[in-house]
Amino acid sequence: MDLFEYQARDVFEAHGVPVLAGKTATTPADAKAAAEEIGAKSGGVTVVKAQVKTGGRGKAGGVKVAKTADEAETYAGEILGMDIKGHTVGTVMIAQGAKIAEEYYFSILLDRAERRYLAMCSKEGGVDIETLAVERPEALARVAVDPNVGVDEAKAKEIVETAGFDAETGAKIVPVLSKLWDVYAGEDATLVEVNPLVKTEDGEIIALDGKVTLDENADFRQPAHEALEDKAAADPLEAKAKAKNLNYVKLDGQVGIIGNGAGLVMSTLDVVAYAGEEHGGVKPANFLDIGGGANAQVMADGLDVILNDEQVKAVFVNVFGGITACDEVANGIKGALEILGDNATKPLVVRLDGNNVEQGRAILNELNHPLVTQVDTMDGAAAKAAELASK
Ligand SMILES: Nc1ncnc2c1ncn2[C@@H]1O[C@H](COP(=O)(O)OP(=O)(O)O)[C@@H](O)[C@H]1O
Ligand SMILES: [Mg+2]
Repeated sequence: MDLFEYQARDVFEAHGVPVLAGKTATTPADAKAAAEEIGAKSGGVTVVKAQVKTGGRGKAGGVKVAKTADEAETYAGEILGMDIKGHTVGTVMIAQGAKIAEEYYFSILLDRAERRYLAMCSKEGGVDIETLAVERPEALARVAVDPNVGVDEAKAKEIVETAGFDAETGAKIVPVLSKLWDVYAGEDATLVEVNPLVKTEDGEIIALDGKVTLDENADFRQPAHEALEDKAAADPLEAKAKAKNLNYVKLDGQVGIIGNGAGLVMSTLDVVAYAGEEHGGVKPANFLDIGGGANAQVMADGLDVILNDEQVKAVFVNVFGGITACDEVANGIKGALEILGDNATKPLVVRLDGNNVEQGRAILNELNHPLVTQVDTMDGAAAKAAELASK
C-alpha cells in the first residue's frame, strides 16, 4: 500500500525524522485557514501540494509556493480537481515553506534479486531520479543494506561518504538516515523515499517530500496501518471481497472466474481470454482464488462478489480437487446456490477434476440446477463460459 505524502509526513514525524508542519484541506477556504495557521511559522509562506499517489506533482503544476494565505486559497482552488497522471486531486497539503539551500535524494527499498535492502543516495535530488540513474549513474550511490543490521551509524556514514557529501553535511545527514531506517523497519515498509531531502539556508536537514510503501503482508502486526487505507479509492467489489478474506482482483471482462490455487486461476484467465476471442472478444472479469478449503460459505462468498459485478454475464468455476476433494466443492456449490437463492442469476459453468471427481460430478448432476452446466475439460468449459457470456 502506497501512502499519500501527508501520511508519510506524519509517519516520519512519529519516528523523529525532521519534517515541516503540514495540514490537509479539501476546499480552498480550508486551505486558506490552514495557510494562516501553518504560515505563521514561516513568514506567511506556505506550499500548496496536491495529494495524489504519483510522483512529478511539481512538474505537473501540483506544488505551488504561496506568499500569503489568500494566495494559498487561490492555488488550492487551481490544484483541487486537477488531474495528475490520471489521479484526480481531492486533497491538498498546506506545508510550511522551506528556504532551500540544497536538494538531495535518499531511499531505502527491498532488493528482491539480492535478497536484502538497498539504500540509494545522491547530492543531486529534487530531480527525476530515474533519469539521473540512467544518464549519470555515478551521481547515485547504491549501498547494500544487510537486513539483520539495518542502517546503523556505520552504514549511514558509508552511505553519505559513497554519495560524496562533505564531512559537515554528511554528519548532519547521518542521524536522519538512521531515523528513516526506523521508519522502514518499524513500519514494515518496502520503500521509503525522500526526494528532496533538503538542507535549508540555516543548515538544517529536512525531509520535504516522502514516499512510503507499506508491506501489506505485515498488516497482522501493524494494526495502525488500517487507518491509512484510502477507502474512497478502493474498488467496491474488491473491498467487499477483502472484508470476506477473499483473494480477489477486479478485471474488465465479462466472465467471472472462481478457482482454487493461484496458478490454476492464472491459467484459467489465459484460457478464458483465448476462448473469448471466438466469441466477440469476451474476457475474464476477475481473479478469484478460493484456496484449499473451498467450503459452501467460501464458495457462496465468492459467488456473491462475482454476481454483484454488473459486467459479469457468466461464471466459470474451475476446480481441481486436491486436499479439498471434488465432492466437497460440489457440495460447496450446492450450498452456495441455496444460500444465494434468487440472487444467483447468471449461468455457471463448472469444471471439476481431480480427487473424488466422480462423486463431485454426481452431486451436481443430481442437483440439476437450471443455471449450472458441467463441462469436463478446462478448455471446453472456458469455451462454454465465453459463449454464454457473449449472449
Ligand atoms: N515545503 C516546501 N517548501 C519549499 N519548497 C518545497 C516544499 N515542498 C516542495 N518544495 C519544492 O517543490 C519541489 C517538488 O515538490 P515535491 O514534494 O518533491 O513533489 P514531487 O516530487 O511530486 O514533484 C521540491 O523539489 C521542492 O523544490
Ligand atoms: Mg518529490
